[in-house]
Amino acid sequence: MKPQQIILSPDNNYALLTDYFLRNGLRKVLIVCGSSFKNFRLREFVDGLISRGVISPVFFSDFRPNPDYESVVKGVELFRNSNCDSLFAIGGGSAMDVAKCIKLYANMPEGVNYLRERIVPNEIPFLAVPTTAGTGSEATKFAVIYYKGEKQSVSDDSCIPQTVLFDASVLHFLPDYQRKATMLDAFCHAVESFWSVNSTDESKTYSKSAISLILNNMDSYLANEESGNATMLKAANLAGKAINITQTTAGHAMCYKITKLYGISHGHAAALCVSVLWRFMVENTALCVDPRGEKYLDGMFHDLASVMGCPDALAGADKFLRIFAGLQLQTPEPDGEGDLELLSKSVNLDRLKNNPIRLDEQTINALYRKIFDRK
Ligand SMILES: [Fe+2]
Repeated sequence: MKPQQIILSPDNNYALLTDYFLRNGLRKVLIVCGSSFKNFRLREFVDGLISRGVISPVFFSDFRPNPDYESVVKGVELFRNSNCDSLFAIGGGSAMDVAKCIKLYANMPEGVNYLRERIVPNEIPFLAVPTTAGTGSEATKFAVIYYKGEKQSVSDDSCIPQTVLFDASVLHFLPDYQRKATMLDAFCHAVESFWSVNSTDESKTYSKSAISLILNNMDSYLANEESGNATMLKAANLAGKAINITQTTAGHAMCYKITKLYGISHGHAAALCVSVLWRFMVENTALCVDPRGEKYLDGMFHDLASVMGCPDALAGADKFLRIFAGLQLQTPEPDGEGDLELLSKSVNLDRLKNNPIRLDEQTINALYRKIFDRK
């Protein structure tokens, strides 16, 4: 049985965090963090730990969004040369991805191309503090880095942080657009995981809990209240646990090029796709490719709607669309037919294999058309 991820709360001035370092005898901690770390209350606390001699960390921030392999190599070298005993990642998806790769590569021979080496799991303690309630990266075995400009997907169970701190105060300064877009990312993870051909009872339980928490706490979270922020971190983590089992589906496969072409956030782009895809799939379960069959799919969409608090499958899809529209995010304008063509051709059909409904290039083109027609 896989060990459960340990969740720490920041209560009593991070008492559990102090205890974590002392109990595990961790001193030489590699702190992988983005530039926003300096703004957090957590930074003051870490400074206090340093001045009291509890930890003697080494900081690593030499990486950019969509981190490249070279940055990871620098991080691995710093970890080794500083004789670090553990990893502490504070950030969004990029900091998590870098820290995950450092963990996986730290015990590989020096000077080799880590991407070509076999991963041998190690016991390096890994603590993560997500600074957005969206990616759920702290709950997944996946990391994405770039090697010579090419996207590399790294995946191994052993890179999932054993311990996570949910610190709602880090969400306090999140810009409004990022707040909405990251929540939508978590929402799409939970929904796509639910309908994925790889879904299991366990993944569906995570998805259901995540969707309920998102729906029940959305207003508080969007109002930047402490309780809403804390709950949304849990929801994103549960949605991450769901996609860790199932991976994402067509919504994510279709959204990457939208982000690339128009520079909108990943979660915003994913929600644009899911909001159109959901209704299309409910209306076209005859195109089922899930081995459990069309009847199963009809029942699954009904169950998904129930989780959304809706009486039937189409009402579930419509509710998502209404919530998304209510966030009032501006839909980008494609630059004519050329863009639609480019978008449709960009979707790797192989990556659609987790989707329960068959989608060909023509259908995908029609879906993109629908996404951008809606104002
Ligand atoms: Fe995502």
